[in-house]
Amino acid sequence: MEKKNLDWANLSFSYIKTDKRFVANYKNGAWDEGQLTDDDKVVITECAGVLQYSQSCFEGLKAYTTEDGHVVCFRPDLNGQRMEDSCRRLEMPVFPADRFVEAVVETVRANLAWVPPYGSGATLYIRPYMFASSAVIGVKPADEYQFRILVTPVGPYFKGGAKPITIRVSDFDRAAPRGTGNIKAGLNYAMSLHPIMDAHRQGYAENMYLDPATRTKVEETGGANFIFITKDGKLVTPKSDSILPSITRRSLLYVAQHYLNMEVEEREVPLTEVPSFAEVGLCGTAAVISPVGKIVNHDEEICVPSGMDTMGPVLTKLYDTLTGIQMGRIEAPEGWIKRIA
Ligand code: PLP
Ligand code: COI
Repeated sequence: MEKKNLDWANLSFSYIKTDKRFVANYKNGAWDEGQLTDDDKVVITECAGVLQYSQSCFEGLKAYTTEDGHVVCFRPDLNGQRMEDSCRRLEMPVFPADRFVEAVVETVRANLAWVPPYGSGATLYIRPYMFASSAVIGVKPADEYQFRILVTPVGPYFKGGAKPITIRVSDFDRAAPRGTGNIKAGLNYAMSLHPIMDAHRQGYAENMYLDPATRTKVEETGGANFIFITKDGKLVTPKSDSILPSITRRSLLYVAQHYLNMEVEEREVPLTEVPSFAEVGLCGTAAVISPVGKIVNHDEEICVPSGMDTMGPVLTKLYDTLTGIQMGRIEAPEGWIKRIA
């Protein structure tokens, strides 16, 4: 199979239309078989639930070319389960996690020419999503839904890749206590657009959101969870009911404990503790591990000891081990890698 002629090493994190996408429709209480299609256009009624009341959710995972030339994806079953949780919370029909994984495999197989080569630094981003497609005018769930998967080759989420970024503490909240912060609802991202644009206009790469009830504890950013490294080498990550349960973060906790013999703590992290950490990182599918060099909270500047030039030593070890597992250089725990081709 011949690869597409792209400048793989210089891709940004943006959409490129690929050959095939997966589409399944939910009608009369059941999902149809679903199929691959060339058609990238979605035609729905002007009164569709997604357009009126934002009834939509999505997932994000990646396919990688391994060192020995296979194409794999990383823990897609967990994305399938998380999408089930998102659907339940939004009164959408569940697309079963096992069918989700099959559809991911089918879609990637149909777009193998778009999977970036090993060593290029790029990956194939996989975006499963679901939306209410039939008309509603009173506030209620729609009767019909569409589940789709698109794929697109991507480079680093933050410009500069592994270069530390500067973020700010946001005056806006990302999620309400007992709200939808723990699911991947489109509405969580719509409301983050103003805070992120405002952050960018002021020169920050991302927002650090605090817990909305007390605004004293670290939650996450708009698109990634936090990991902190203490001066004595422990991994600390915030525990909260209103952050997205990141698959990357859950995997890193395991990698830290079982591959790197590190101690890990998942617990509340007061903002006042942040200046005492040695390294700070963002983790997620898109972000992988992105180092944070500085955190600005109005007049206060927290300069992370690992500095603004490179990723710190412990995050680097975590990054190398996680990406080593994803790219087939390091043996993966049972069930983490799904072979696609
Ligand atoms: N937090 C938010 C708000 C996200 O959008 C994402 C991205 O999916 C993450 C965290 C990281 O989650 P994961 O590691 O499962 O990609
Ligand atoms: C992902 O990491 O997959 C996400 O969905 C984050 C998004 C902000 C791109």
